[in-house]
Amino acid sequence: MTSTVQLSALRLSKRLAELEPSATIGLIGRIGQLKAQGVPVISFGQGEPDFPTPAVIKAAGQKAIDQDLTRYTPTGGIVELRQAIARRATEETGIAYTANQITVACGAKEALFLAFQAICNEGDEVIIPAPYWVSYIEQVRLASAKPIVVDMIEGQGFAFKAARIIERITPKTRAIILNSPSNPTGEVVPAPELQALAAAVRGTGIIVLSDEIYNTICYNGEYPSWLRLAPDLVEQTLVVNGVSKSYAMTGWRIGYIAGHKEIIEAIKAIQSHSTTHPTSIAQYAALAAYTPSAELDEIVRERVGAFLERRDVIVAGLTAIPGVTCAIPEGAFYVFPNVEGLLNRPLNGGKVCQTSNELANYLLDHAQIGVVPGEAFGAPGYLRLSYAQSKANILEGLTRFAAAVK
Ligand SMILES: Cc1ncc(COP(=O)(O)O)c(C=O)c1O
Repeated sequence: MTSTVQLSALRLSKRLAELEPSATIGLIGRIGQLKAQGVPVISFGQGEPDFPTPAVIKAAGQKAIDQDLTRYTPTGGIVELRQAIARRATEETGIAYTANQITVACGAKEALFLAFQAICNEGDEVIIPAPYWVSYIEQVRLASAKPIVVDMIEGQGFAFKAARIIERITPKTRAIILNSPSNPTGEVVPAPELQALAAAVRGTGIIVLSDEIYNTICYNGEYPSWLRLAPDLVEQTLVVNGVSKSYAMTGWRIGYIAGHKEIIEAIKAIQSHSTTHPTSIAQYAALAAYTPSAELDEIVRERVGAFLERRDVIVAGLTAIPGVTCAIPEGAFYVFPNVEGLLNRPLNGGKVCQTSNELANYLLDHAQIGVVPGEAFGAPGYLRLSYAQSKANILEGLTRFAAAVK
C-alpha cells in the first residue's frame, strides 16, 4: 500500500536536513537486494571480517544467557568489562587507565557519536582528515558542530600530513580526528607526523579523538600509537576502540571510549538517557575477548596473516589493471585504488563514466561486483574495496573488474 502522507506533513527534525545516510550501508543494502534476486554479486563493500567470532567468546555469550545475566547493567558497562578494557588500553597506550576512565558503548560508532555529543557546542569545529570514514562528518553535524575536512590527497596518492591539519587549526577548533590504521585507505600514520601534530595541540584545549578500531590489524610490525608518542596529552585525548574488527564481533555491538574521567561521566549521562548500555550478554562476550588469552592472541595473529596474504593478492590484481594505481595499505582490510585513469573514456560495452560514483554503479550493474565509490569518503576518483573475504572471491572479483574496464 502506498502512503498518502505528504513528507512535509511528517515534520521531521531540522537536524535531518543535511544528513546523508551512510553510503556504505546503502550500498550493502543494494547488494543484498541483488543477491536476494539471485544475482551472483561479489561484494567488496563490507567493512567486517569474514571470520566467525572465536569459539571462546561465543561460549562466554552463551554462558551469560544460561546464567540469566540478562538484566540491566550499570550505564557504562559491567565493572569487570571496564576493568578488562582499562588493562587492555593500558597495554596498548602505556597510560595507566582505570575503570572509571572507560565507558562501554554500542560499537565504536556509538562511542564516537557520544564523544561528539559530549564535547561539541554549536560553532565548534572538528578537523577531519580526508579520505575519512563515512560517519565522522554526519556525527559532527548531529552534534551541532562544523566538520572541517582537510584533504590528504596528493596527485594520485594520499598521505597523512600533520602540517595540513595544523594550518587549519583556529580558535574554534574543538577536536581533531585521527584514524590510524585508516578506513578507507589502510594507511598507518607515521610517528613523525603524530609527533608534529602533538607539538601543535600541546597546551591548547583541543581534543584528539583517536579512532583505533583497526589497531590490531597492522602489517609492518610496531603500531605507532598516538598516546605512546604523546603520553602527556592523555587529558586531551579520547581513545575509541572496540571488539568489532579485532575479534570479528561486528554484530555484538561493543565499543568503548577511554578518556578523562569527567568527559566519561558526561558521556555516561547521555547514555543513561539513550541506550543505557550495550546488551548485557554482548558485554560478557566482550569480557572474554579482553581477558588475556594466548589462544585468542594466536587467532588474531593468524587472521592478520590471512588478511596480509589477501592484501597482496588484491594489490597485485588491481595494479595489473591499466588505468588503476594502488598504494599498499599497511593496516585494516581495505585497499583504496585511484581509478581516474578509467574515467572519461569508453569502457568495455562503450559506457563512459565521469565519476568514481558512476564507475561503482557500472561495476555493480555490468560486472556484478560491489565496490564503494571514493565520494563517500571525501575522495572522488578512488574506490574502496574490502578484502575481508576468500582469496577465490577476490580473484574472481578482480577478473570481472578487469574484463569490465578493458
Ligand atoms: C574507522 C571506523 N571507526 C569506527 C567504526 C565503527 O565500528 P563498530 O562496528 O564498532 O561500531 C568503523 C566501522 O566500520 C570504522 O571503520
